[in-house]
Amino acid sequence: MSDFFSTIRRRHSVRQYQSDMPVETEKLHAVLECAVSAPSAGDLQAYQIGVVETPSQRLSLSHATGQDFVAEAPVCLIFCTDAERSALSFGDRGRDLYALQDATIAAAYAQLAATAADLATTWVGYFDSKEIARLLELPPALQPVALLTLGYAAEQPRATSRRQLDEVVFRR
Ligand SMILES: Cc1cc2nc3c(=O)[nH]c(=O)nc-3n(C[C@H](O)[C@H](O)[C@H](O)COP(=O)(O)O)c2cc1C
Repeated sequence: MSDFFSTIRRRHSVRQYQSDMPVETEKLHAVLECAVSAPSAGDLQAYQIGVVETPSQRLSLSHATGQDFVAEAPVCLIFCTDAERSALSFGDRGRDLYALQDATIAAAYAQLAATAADLATTWVGYFDSKEIARLLELPPALQPVALLTLGYAAEQPRATSRRQLDEVVFRR
């Protein structure tokens, strides 16, 4: 396990995986435990996380994303909002904003936990939502909002540049 700041620095998207190296059950469990420890509006945790490991399902997911590496990664997590769960307490703000924040914060926690556990990841936001919902037989209440591929890297990830802080941060 690595220190938090080095985990942040080490995390880069990886799009080539060692397809013959599965993710250990304990590691996957630890990643999921970290995901659900994320903060959520009213502690409602208005999301569900799908876990896909079977090769045929991963191939179908890769078709729904148009991105081949999704089939190569041994695990794909699918973060889905459960908007009505948040709406029950928070109305439109829960439905339209908090559920999305809950699900994506959980995904971010999972991504960093995976990095700390020496797993490689990529956040995948481009996909056919209807096709993913059909493949995973999601109930209408669940909306897939982010996929996370997990596995062992088969490439050395490149660091990408970031905007300067003074471009991004404003003070009033
Ligand atoms: C909301 C969101 C959507 C993304 N969608 C995709 C995607 O569909 N396919 C992909 O290969 N990477 C995707 N990425 C990963 C970004 O391309 C990547 O994080 C960015 O280029 C910075 O590189 P780094 O992750 O190595 O720091 C997405 C990231 C985010 C946060």
